[in-house]
Amino acid sequence: MGAATVGRQPGVIVGVASLVLTPGVTPEQARAVVTAAVDAGAAAIDTARAYAAVDDDAAGERLAATARERAPGIPIVTKAGHFRVGTSAWDNDGSADRLRRDALRSREVLGAPPNLLLLHRSDRVDDLAESVRALAELRDEGVIEAIGLSNASIEQLEMARGITRIDAVQDRLAFGLDPLDEYRYCVAAGIPFLAYAPFGGPKAPPLATRLPRLATLSIAREVSVHRLALAAMLDAMPGCSPVIGPSRVESALDSLAAATLAVDDELRQAFADDLRSRGVDL
Ligand SMILES: NC(=O)c1ccc[n+]([C@@H]2O[C@H](COP(=O)([O-])OP(=O)(O)OC[C@H]3O[C@@H](n4cnc5c(N)ncnc54)[C@H](OP(=O)(O)O)[C@@H]3O)[C@@H](O)[C@H]2O)c1
Repeated sequence: MGAATVGRQPGVIVGVASLVLTPGVTPEQARAVVTAAVDAGAAAIDTARAYAAVDDDAAGERLAATARERAPGIPIVTKAGHFRVGTSAWDNDGSADRLRRDALRSREVLGAPPNLLLLHRSDRVDDLAESVRALAELRDEGVIEAIGLSNASIEQLEMARGITRIDAVQDRLAFGLDPLDEYRYCVAAGIPFLAYAPFGGPKAPPLATRLPRLATLSIAREVSVHRLALAAMLDAMPGCSPVIGPSRVESALDSLAAATLAVDDELRQAFADDLRSRGVDL
C-alpha cells in the first residue's frame, strides 16, 4: 500500500500512545496489542516522536516498526515537532531544522520512510508556514511519503493549503464532545480525515452515557457500544478514519471488528440521534 493512500480508504487506525505512555502497560503487552491489531486488519498504525519513554525517544516508533515487520505493507503514521522532555513534560518546535531531524529519526527507527508524517501540534508552533514548507521539502526529497497537520483549525488548514498539498489531517473527534467542522472542511477539500480519540480518551465519561441510544442497542444486540459507534461512524462519515487507542488486546479486537459490522437503519438513526442530542448534526 502506498503512502499517499493513508486514510484514502477509511478504516480503523490503531494508535500506540497509551501503549507507551500509560504506566503499567508492559512492553510485552504493547507488542501483543500491536500484533493483534495488525493481524485483525488495522488500516494503519499511528505513532509519534512524542510517544516516547523518558530515556527512549523511539519507543512508539519502534512499536510501529514491529507492525511493519509483521505486515510490511501496513501504513505508518507518525508526527513531528512535539517531543518528550521529562517525566510529565513535552515541548514543541516546528522549525525546519527540528522537523528535518525528527523526520530523519523517524525514517531511521521505522527502517523506511513514514507513509505519513504530521506536524503534531499545529496549534502550538511559532511559524506554521515555515513548518509546512519544511514538511513539503521533506516529501519532495522522499524522506517521508506524505504530509499533514494535526490539531489544526480550518484557518490553519486554509493557510497551509495555500503553500502546498496537504495529504491528510488528524484532529480530535470524540463522539458527542467535538463538532464536525474540521471533518466537513476536509471532506469538501478531498483530504482524508483521521479522527483521533473517538471515545474521548481514557479519562472521558463512559461512552454509554454519551451515546445512550447506542447503549440500548448494544445490550439488545450483545455488541459493544464502542464497536457500534465506530461502525456507525465509518458508515455515516465518508473520508473519516477513527484513530483508537486500546491498551488491551480484547478492546483492540472488539473495536477493529467494527470494520465488518453491517450497519442498518436502526443503528444509523440511533447514532445520528445520540449525536444530535449533544448538539452535533451529522
Ligand atoms: N494527534 C494528536 O495530538 C493525538 C492526541 C491524542 C491521541 N492521538 C492518537 O489517537 C489514539 C487514540 O487516542 P486515545 O487512546 O486517547 O482515545 P480513545 O481510543 O478514544 O480512547 C481510549 C480508551 O478507549 C477504550 N477502548 C477502546 N476500544 C474499546 C472497546 N472496544 N471497549 C471498551 N473500551 C475500549 C480504551 O480501553 P483500554 O485501554 O482498556 O483498551 C481506552 O480507555 C492515540 O493512541 C494516538 O495514536 C493523537
